[in-house]
Amino acid sequence: MAFIEWNKQFEINISEFDDHHRHLLNLLNKTFDNLKKGIEKEKLGMVLVQLVDYANYHFRAEEVWMKDQGYPKLQQHCAEHRYFIGRVQEMCKDYETGDTALAQELLSFMKNWLSSHILGSDQEYRRFYTKHK
Ligand SMILES: [Fe+2]
Repeated sequence: MAFIEWNKQFEINISEFDDHHRHLLNLLNKTFDNLKKGIEKEKLGMVLVQLVDYANYHFRAEEVWMKDQGYPKLQQHCAEHRYFIGRVQEMCKDYETGDTALAQELLSFMKNWLSSHILGSDQEYRRFYTKHK
């Protein structure tokens, strides 16, 4: 079973962002598999960096789009993205100096945060978009 399964409820019907979210979940699953396989700490660190880079790329795309749509909760949404990136960067630093068990903690944080963010705040911009397009 995958670490995080794609769920129909994640769909926001904006194909670019659904693709991004699917890709993020795939990356999370691959990273988790690598962790379980016991790859070297340094290599896992590089995979984690790719995951964070992709999350950043996706957040930026969403933020530009929300701004273009005149989304009223843009600031709040951006703050959530910043919280995620800040927390993940802190955890990555701890991982570099700590042991590999911290990677498990980091991936669990990402999984929980991403699921609730997509189901909550991302679905909220979808509802706004559907109403106003
Ligand atoms: Fe978002």
